[in-house]
Amino acid sequence: VAARELSLRHPRGETRMWLGEGALAAAASTLGDWVEGRRLFVVTDPRVRALHGVSIAGLAARAGEACWLEVPEGEAAKSVAEAERLWRRMLEAGGKRDSRLLALGGGSVGDLGGFVAGCFLRGVEHALLPTTLLAQLDAAIGGKTAIDLPGGKNSVGLFRHPAFVVGEATWLGTLPRPERAAGLFEAIKAGFVLDTALFERIESDLDALLEGDAQALGQVVGAAAAAKVRIVEEDPEEAGSRQLLNFGHTLAHALESLGGYRGLRHGEAVGYGMLFATWLGEEHGLPAEEAGRLRELVRRVGLPETLLPSTQEILETMRRDKKAREDGLRWVVPECLGRGRVEVLPVDTVRRALEAWRRSLGRGDPSPRV
Ligand SMILES: NC(=O)c1ccc[n+]([C@@H]2O[C@H](COP(=O)([O-])OP(=O)(O)OC[C@H]3O[C@@H](n4cnc5c(N)ncnc54)[C@H](O)[C@@H]3O)[C@@H](O)[C@H]2O)c1
Ligand SMILES: [Zn+2]
Repeated sequence: VAARELSLRHPRGETRMWLGEGALAAAASTLGDWVEGRRLFVVTDPRVRALHGVSIAGLAARAGEACWLEVPEGEAAKSVAEAERLWRRMLEAGGKRDSRLLALGGGSVGDLGGFVAGCFLRGVEHALLPTTLLAQLDAAIGGKTAIDLPGGKNSVGLFRHPAFVVGEATWLGTLPRPERAAGLFEAIKAGFVLDTALFERIESDLDALLEGDAQALGQVVGAAAAAKVRIVEEDPEEAGSRQLLNFGHTLAHALESLGGYRGLRHGEAVGYGMLFATWLGEEHGLPAEEAGRLRELVRRVGLPETLLPSTQEILETMRRDKKAREDGLRWVVPECLGRGRVEVLPVDTVRRALEAWRRSLGRGDPSPRV
């Protein structure tokens, strides 16, 4: 199988991407030319470096000088303190406007790396080498970068597209299964509201996907990434159709926030969010058979049990969300398999739906009644 090549045109240029099995080999000469003779900063975490650092040794060797910058694993990387520490080290190491930065790791490393690159000396070029499923099919695409403040996840950041994205599917083989499952929820999300063929591919290849089969994963990554590229090109700053990618995210963000970001993984929260948004969808005409397929696929991937916060807590948290509006809460409501629309729903409607949905949980496949 050949890697899939995509390109994303954005207001300031173009991002070239290679995704799937063999992506790294396919990108090697282009990336090699890009770093040739320059100072290269490689942002990564210790786990990813130990597992996969060796695979980019050849690339790093083509740089004039390579400086590895390790950051803590996971969300802990996305802090003001880490960003400042990297900027200081880059300055001390003689970083210049035409230096290069590579971010090798999951979405956390990519979000921090893109932000650090975008601000350093008012911007150096960077490339993302995502190593988690979630980052390959979602976080690495679309130019959003961010770090967190103590009271606000992703509250400081910029739109800054990478020059290149390389998502090598064999890297995904070392992910723990729950991390692959979490990434799959984002792929299911994209399939359900944007791309029926993608949804059906996940249904049919699910066992191989969960086991970490590189070929199956590479194909889902390619298809999900292509769907996201199409939407981001249409709507670079999320004024319209890009909001569809928030399917399942209104509830997900509230659950993550109420859990202090230490409970559910992001993808798992999206799994719960899709179950509820699908319930809302049935109220608005989504056929029961299609809603049932979504529920069945989520069930097969598997959600960890969680204690749902009270309806009141959920609603209050949603109203504080940066995507909420004065006149209500914004939802992506699925219309039929492969299509969704954005709707602002009054808080009372959402309250009644949440209560009905909560009563239905754990009782098989309920028909919605609000
Ligand atoms: N910019 C965007 O558009 C966007 C979109 C979605 C999510 N995000 C962000 O992405 C972050 C989550 O990213 P994530 O889910 O990729 O997790 P992550 O980056 O937090 O990494 C999770 C863990 O996986 C490990 N890991 C990474 N690759 C591995 C591999 N190949 N094998 C074994 N272990 C590996 C890491 O060391 C880390 O411990 C969040 O901060 C979220 O806000 C950004
Ligand atoms: Zn998401």
